[in-house]
Amino acid sequence: MLYLRNLNYHPTACPTAILKSINLELAPQQLGLIIGASGSGKSTLLEILSGLAEPTSGALFWRKQELIAEQLQQLAGLVFQFPERHFCGGSILEELRLGHPELGSERVKQALTEVGLEHLSLFAAPHALSGGQQRRLALAVQLIRQPNLLLLDEPTAGLDWSMRRQLVNLLAKLKQDWTLLVVTHDAGDLLAIADRCWTLNHGELESVDPKTLESKVKEPLPSV
Ligand SMILES: Nc1ncnc2c1ncn2[C@@H]1O[C@H](COP(=O)(O)OP(=O)(O)O)[C@@H](O)[C@H]1O
Ligand SMILES: [Mg+2]
Repeated sequence: MLYLRNLNYHPTACPTAILKSINLELAPQQLGLIIGASGSGKSTLLEILSGLAEPTSGALFWRKQELIAEQLQQLAGLVFQFPERHFCGGSILEELRLGHPELGSERVKQALTEVGLEHLSLFAAPHALSGGQQRRLALAVQLIRQPNLLLLDEPTAGLDWSMRRQLVNLLAKLKQDWTLLVVTHDAGDLLAIADRCWTLNHGELESVDPKTLESKVKEPLPSV
């Protein structure tokens, strides 16, 4: 169980806080969805949850334990927006084992199976994969570390309708085993698989019922 309590983020250079008194709870094997326009603070929140940035005040707990940034780096796996732009392995195998040369072929195979890429050659170049396959590989790169919390920044951005549908189906499957927190400016079909949902507006998080939102929002939120 993940808890955020009165989390604030206000870099001194900023006139106003980027995240304002954020409270959030997410249970294991749930998919939490945060919807907010561009600039609302979504990526910043994921940076804090993954231990890449430190909150100005407030606390983060996993079960009953309060966590500091170093522990969050272990606990969480962050898939960046457009993760394929950050690939730097020459092959799928290299990409999966970057920073973890000790990981054996069993773990490599397991991670690829979880994202439905087990049929690919381990020696294929990541850049030679289709857009949808690259997104799956980026997920496998995090899953191979077996994080307790999987964080996804705009996972469906730039995907066409059919690749998007496949990715949503994959996330629905992954939440049977993992805890996922997804941020997006365009909730669309992600709402249908969300257990918890929040809107983020200028750094303020508000809980909403995904079912209510699904019937109300058929149009994507404006991105500005
Ligand atoms: N390190 C930083 N210093 C100053 N401003 C920042 C910093 N990081 C993000 N911001 C600002 O915080 C706001 C939220 O950014 P971001 O988290 O990237 O939003 P989103 O991911 O929802 O588009 C934006 O106005 C952005 O310009
Ligand atoms: Mg962002």
